[in-house]
Amino acid sequence: MSKSKIRVALAGVGNCASALIQGVEYYRRAEREEEAIGLRRLYLGGYHPKDIEFVCAFDVAAGKVGVDLSEAIFAPPNDTVKLVEVPKTGVKVLRGPLLDGVSEPLKNVIEVDESEEVDVAAALKESGAEMLLNILPSGAAEASKRYAEESLKAGCAFVNVTPTILASDPSWIRRFKEGGLPLVGDDLTDQVGATIIHKTLLEMLSERGVRISETYQLDVGGGTESLNTLERARDLKRSIKTSSVGSVLPYRAEVVAGSTDYVDFLGNRRDSYFWLRGLYFGGVPMRLDIKLSTVDGPNAGSILLDVIRAVRVALSKGEAGHVLAISAYAFKRPVKILPPDEADKLFEAFVGCG
Ligand SMILES: NC(=O)c1ccc[n+]([C@@H]2O[C@H](COP(=O)([O-])OP(=O)(O)OC[C@H]3O[C@@H](n4cnc5c(N)ncnc54)[C@H](O)[C@@H]3O)[C@@H](O)[C@H]2O)c1
Repeated sequence: MSKSKIRVALAGVGNCASALIQGVEYYRRAEREEEAIGLRRLYLGGYHPKDIEFVCAFDVAAGKVGVDLSEAIFAPPNDTVKLVEVPKTGVKVLRGPLLDGVSEPLKNVIEVDESEEVDVAAALKESGAEMLLNILPSGAAEASKRYAEESLKAGCAFVNVTPTILASDPSWIRRFKEGGLPLVGDDLTDQVGATIIHKTLLEMLSERGVRISETYQLDVGGGTESLNTLERARDLKRSIKTSSVGSVLPYRAEVVAGSTDYVDFLGNRRDSYFWLRGLYFGGVPMRLDIKLSTVDGPNAGSILLDVIRAVRVALSKGEAGHVLAISAYAFKRPVKILPPDEADKLFEAFVGCG
């Protein structure tokens, strides 16, 4: 495949999609790595963020459907930070299939657009999209599966940003493999998210001889995504995060990691609390207590830019089925969880960084 534009479709035009689209614009003029503050790499697999083009998008919310993507990303209830003005894209958001996309508590916040749903696979094909990013709300399992189905039909690679178990499910892996298409996920890892910070802390302390006995990481956030997680995906999210965090310790310890509660006025902001107890030299006890404050949308941007470019690399290599090199680096629930530095090395070898 030549180094043509990377043609991306989006299912869900929420805060995460907003940060991603703004990010491509924000870094468009950066030429050197030093200018790309906030990115891990400006070039990846030979691609710059400006090589990404959004060619198709689906949503169900009135105020987003039928509107140019550049405006839909700022339509309520999206409330993430505005980084830049985004010029018109010429891509109108299409009415996707609703299924379980809007949960009970969100019915008060999101008015569902009344137009007919489109034929997703046909729209994907017509747009020339090579991959579909599933960025639906947490817990929208039926809708996520439907987009995976349409992605297969249209011959698109599928990226599952959500915690719905899909890219790590053997039957979906088999179907994408048979379809000759890459599949990556599940549940994106944030750039400076609580999971990676917690894992790094535990790994560093245990390598330095500290025996950690108990640790937790809990967070609070506002906005639609936190409300959804609280109502529909708290247990799933907790089990994904807890097994990801616990995987770095070479011994058993009490580990709890998960989202706890919804604080409406936080909007797209999130506060994460880390606590741990352990023993160091001579069995002397230690405790650690830290708080991290971030905004959700931009926390997904850098990793998503890496994932999109890496999926293009996977397509050009003819990869099919679950791509561990991408999933282990960028997602909390790949088929196999690797230690962070091993996942980084595997990813870099796969994409041929720079
Ligand atoms: N840092 C991050 O933001 C981050 C990190 C890891 C995972 N994720 C995951 O990304 C997903 C999206 O998060 P977000 O903050 O953008 O959520 P959001 O609530 O802001 O956006 C979701 C969007 O999906 C739309 N939608 C609902 N049902 C739909 C359907 N059937 N078809 C098409 N569109 C539909 C909504 O209208 C909304 O625009 C979540 O599953 C979250 O767990 C986000």
